[in-house]
Amino acid sequence: MIELTDVKKSFKDPATGNPVRVIDIPSFSIGHGIHAGLRGPSGTGKTTLLHLISGMTTPDSGTIRNLGTDISGLSEFARDRFRANHIGYIFQSFNLLDGFSALENVMLGMMFADKGTDRKKAEHLLKVVGLQDRMHYKPSQLSVGQQQRVCIARAAANDPEILLADEPTGSLDPKTSDEVLELLFEVSKDKILLVVSHEEEVLNRFPQKMDLSEINKGALV
Ligand SMILES: Nc1ncnc2c1ncn2[C@@H]1O[C@H](COP(=O)(O)OP(=O)(O)O)[C@@H](O)[C@H]1O
Ligand SMILES: [Mg+2]
Repeated sequence: MIELTDVKKSFKDPATGNPVRVIDIPSFSIGHGIHAGLRGPSGTGKTTLLHLISGMTTPDSGTIRNLGTDISGLSEFARDRFRANHIGYIFQSFNLLDGFSALENVMLGMMFADKGTDRKKAEHLLKVVGLQDRMHYKPSQLSVGQQQRVCIARAAANDPEILLADEPTGSLDPKTSDEVLELLFEVSKDKILLVVSHEEEVLNRFPQKMDLSEINKGALV
């Protein structure tokens, strides 16, 4: 379960220094095993919300409970540990390390979790996402769709209970986009999957669709 209560987050306007409210969510939750698509136009706080849920950012006030743990009350170190063990994050911009192969990128994701690295499992996950013959390629030697598959394998590497994906199909053609969504559903069976997107075709694939503007009173657009 993911539960947000009275979560507020502002950023400073770089020009004036004044706080600008981006997130003001009185109440929002996603139950276990739910695959949810969250809609929101650009600039309305989708990425900020995922950063908050994953503990990469902290709220100004309010609580964020993941799997019963109030992560907003944890230190940065403890939040990083929690994320490594329980959350798989698929970044909009991939965040793969280019000095490392696809296999090494997946194994690096495992290093930060308590279970540690497991080469056989990393190889298996890359097979699941269809990259059995690209394991030793570096991200720059892979197509954008292939890079996104590596990200999915990396996000699934530590068997997280929660998968968060930030516009995972944003830079993909419709066919690859469909394939990537299928893979996301496959690795998140029985888990919480929250995908944010502004694309209707992506959101239509989800049994549970939500609108950020209905949840977030702080949305600017
Ligand atoms: N670090 C930051 N400093 C100042 N403003 C920010 C920062 N991060 C995000 N914002 C602002 O918050 C708003 C929401 O951003 P974001 O969560 O990235 O939206 P989305 O992912 O929906 O496009 C935008 O207006 C953006 O300018
Ligand atoms: Mg975004």
